[in-house]
Amino acid sequence: MIPLKTILSQSASQRDPPMKARKHQPEHRFATRAIHVGQAPDPATGAVVPPIHQASTFAQTTVGKYDGWLYSRVGNPTRAALETCLASLEGGAAAFAFSSGMAAINAVITLLSAGDHVLCQDNLYGGTVRLFNQIVKRFGIEFSYVKPTPESLQDALRPNTRLVYLETPTNPLLGIVDLQACCAWAQSQQIPVAVDNTFLTPYFQRPIESGVDFVIHSTTKYLNGHSDGIGGAVICKNAADAERLKFIQKAAGAVLAPFECWLVLRGIKSLAVRMRQHDANAMAVAKWLAAQKSVRTVNYPGLPQHPQHALARRQQSGFGGMLSFDVGTRARAQRVVDRVKLFAFAESLGGVESLLAHPATMSHAGITAEERAAMGIGEGLLRVSAGIEDADDLIADLDNALKSNRR
Ligand SMILES: Cc1ncc(COP(=O)(O)O)c(C=O)c1O
Repeated sequence: MIPLKTILSQSASQRDPPMKARKHQPEHRFATRAIHVGQAPDPATGAVVPPIHQASTFAQTTVGKYDGWLYSRVGNPTRAALETCLASLEGGAAAFAFSSGMAAINAVITLLSAGDHVLCQDNLYGGTVRLFNQIVKRFGIEFSYVKPTPESLQDALRPNTRLVYLETPTNPLLGIVDLQACCAWAQSQQIPVAVDNTFLTPYFQRPIESGVDFVIHSTTKYLNGHSDGIGGAVICKNAADAERLKFIQKAAGAVLAPFECWLVLRGIKSLAVRMRQHDANAMAVAKWLAAQKSVRTVNYPGLPQHPQHALARRQQSGFGGMLSFDVGTRARAQRVVDRVKLFAFAESLGGVESLLAHPATMSHAGITAEERAAMGIGEGLLRVSAGIEDADDLIADLDNALKSNRR
């Protein structure tokens, strides 16, 4: 008989034979990988959900020897589970989880050095432009903002261009960037490409398959999907870049905390079903809005009248849950905002609940009215993040709110 003292001094994994890790072959499809990759039953207990390893440090075996984990900024088992899953879903060599989408973007930018130049598309998320122009620029990195086409990128190319930075679909007008065309041009110049894939997630768009080197996410949005955590991630195509990002993550330290990683992992398990519903609801709302006389324009890549509908069909496997529509004036937009009952008027997107936003006074308040007008962002523009409620209820809510503009 084994003495009780010996049993108690053993770790759980020594007491119980480790469960055989289930293998998930690459041929498993997206929804299966979202639930299983990096998330085999816990060897210590058999728990089917990865534990939250809420520990800052890990006991080492002896001098110079440790069992995989050292210190949670360097690596944490819950974070590793999320990163393994994300790398699989995007089809990358490795993934890195950060404390916010902005921290993820900052990590990619710190791969560069003073004197380097970045070619950015002209309509990026406002927070990205703020980071680039108001902080990173001070460290000697230059940014140009141009139309995301091979011709415009070529015209703005400099001898010191070291990165192309893209985002598709764009916010809030839902323009589509031709990733294959931009990547083909960038590859001909041997310049890596980064793309923010927050709006579509790997369920609808896998940029690495189009030639992108770095995929960025604000996991705050669809990957978490429940509006209860801030986070970010970078997934890279090459092992060499993975080493460099791993070093930046460890050295700069903006890591995602274990509980936040667990929340994102839980969100990702239902990503496939959620994205299908976001997409169906956005399509239903967009079609309904397009038929309303009081609505001037509807921007949704799923509508055949969207100028890049064909490109969206080719590049994406769905159109996503984001759309925008223009009711003409600020007063009319305000009436809609004030009358909706189901939609919350709020920043952010990608949660199960539907949100309404006013880009001119929210995401794009930091630029001038003239700049907004040049971009096509008027005072009457409203952005919708379609949740996964019943689409008929969403339409009824908008119908009621738009009534005030029909009089
Ligand atoms: C497309 C996009 N990228 C990045 C970010 C920044 O993410 P976070 O708020 O998680 O830092 C946002 C936030 O709204 C976003 O919409």
